[in-house]
Amino acid sequence: MLAPAGAVQQKGVFTIMTTPEELVRLAKEARERAYIPYSGFAVGAALLCRDGTVYQGCNIENAAFSPTICAERVAMFKAVYDGKRDFEAIAVVGGRAGEEITGLFPPCGVCRQVLREFCGLDFKLYLGKENNGWVETTLGEILPYSFSSADMK
Ligand code: THU
Repeated sequence: MLAPAGAVQQKGVFTIMTTPEELVRLAKEARERAYIPYSGFAVGAALLCRDGTVYQGCNIENAAFSPTICAERVAMFKAVYDGKRDFEAIAVVGGRAGEEITGLFPPCGVCRQVLREFCGLDFKLYLGKENNGWVETTLGEILPYSFSSADMK
């Protein structure tokens, strides 16, 4: 794993002063790890914790299909396992393996709900698109009228 400029590496994760551009770059780096023998569609995610730590994830597919897990959830579950609970933003990129990114990457509904478990509606998303660009949005924008623990009180 290549450390970004200014990074402090601890236990295989990075603590950095990060920018959206850097987070998108780390998502692209994570995309290289995708295990995608069935779809050939490589997704990468980089999740920024409020303490500055970044967790990367890629999609990991399965011959039985339904056990396939998305890049966003891999990043989130790695972070939660490490005891992280406060999150700032996530960058997500996706596209055909070995090709440049050609369009905006929209996280699936399951991943939006998993993000909602741990993140507020102001949680930021940087959705990668062509020409090294991204679109900034929030969880509240992409998951309106969401169900969360607050609705069970
Ligand atoms: N995928 C993700 O990693 N994240 C999403 O939000 C949507 C889909 C993956 C799952 C599967 O390996 C491939 O993209 C095609 O659906």
